[in-house]
Amino acid sequence: MIIVDSKIFIDKLKAHSGKVTILTGAGVSTPSGIPDFRSPNGIYSKYDPEELFGLDNFLSHPAYFYKFAIDNIFTIKDAKPNVVHYMVAKLESLHLVNGVVTQNIDMLHKKAGSVNLAEMHGSIEKGHCLRCGRIYTLEEMYDRTLNAKDGVARCECGGVIKPDIIFFGEPLPESEINKAYAMIENSTLMVAMGTSLAVYPVASFPQIVLQNKGELVIVNMGATQLDSEASLIFKTPLEDFAQEVLSLLA
Ligand code: OAD
Repeated sequence: MIIVDSKIFIDKLKAHSGKVTILTGAGVSTPSGIPDFRSPNGIYSKYDPEELFGLDNFLSHPAYFYKFAIDNIFTIKDAKPNVVHYMVAKLESLHLVNGVVTQNIDMLHKKAGSVNLAEMHGSIEKGHCLRCGRIYTLEEMYDRTLNAKDGVARCECGGVIKPDIIFFGEPLPESEINKAYAMIENSTLMVAMGTSLAVYPVASFPQIVLQNKGELVIVNMGATQLDSEASLIFKTPLEDFAQEVLSLLA
């Protein structure tokens, strides 16, 4: 069932009286100018996922990742939250939702004021030296990449710096897994926004809520593998949807 009336969405949130977890993906940040992965013009239309984000590839050829990062990841330092991030934060402050689980590394939920936040794929906010463990900020990683002869951000000790984002083949951060499960176990409704639900284990989170006899609402332009399981689907641009929700809450 495809619905366009956002009031139905707010009624659904109220019916679940704050037992709601929002799950987000790259689609919530496209209105901030950050491309997603699997849309026709997404990152994976130009780059191979494993080459770019495979841990083994990073360890053997870090320059490949850093060349991409200069134009596509470090630019996140200047990105601003958009109306979707602000809507998510507002729903939390009104206690309509209990928190947000995100696959995004772009810090925009935090910048918009979300408090109960699980960043499942890490964050670009910091990185660390793979040799000595020294911590670096995003700005420092950027500067060191620009100033390196081989285009690889390195530590004072000469070790390669790895941003604290999750590469394929790495475990998810335990602290974030714990936060996410605490939210999910307390939820009778999950709202998935801007995610194709293609990457596990995060893609299994809606299934946990459904198995616990909860409901799923999807707000996403593209199809997801769980569309047939959702109580409501909004196939509208998230920025329009969020604007409407915020005006209804005002
Ligand atoms: P995807 O690119 O797979 O999915 C983004 C979804 O958002 C697509 O289905 C789009 O149709 C939708 N979308 C984009 N902009 C939208 C808008 N303005 N309004 C409504 N819908 C919109 O991104 P994710 O599901 O986040 O992981 O990808 C999951 C993971 O795959 C990422 O975290 C990343 C990637 O590999 C790692 O790198 C570990």
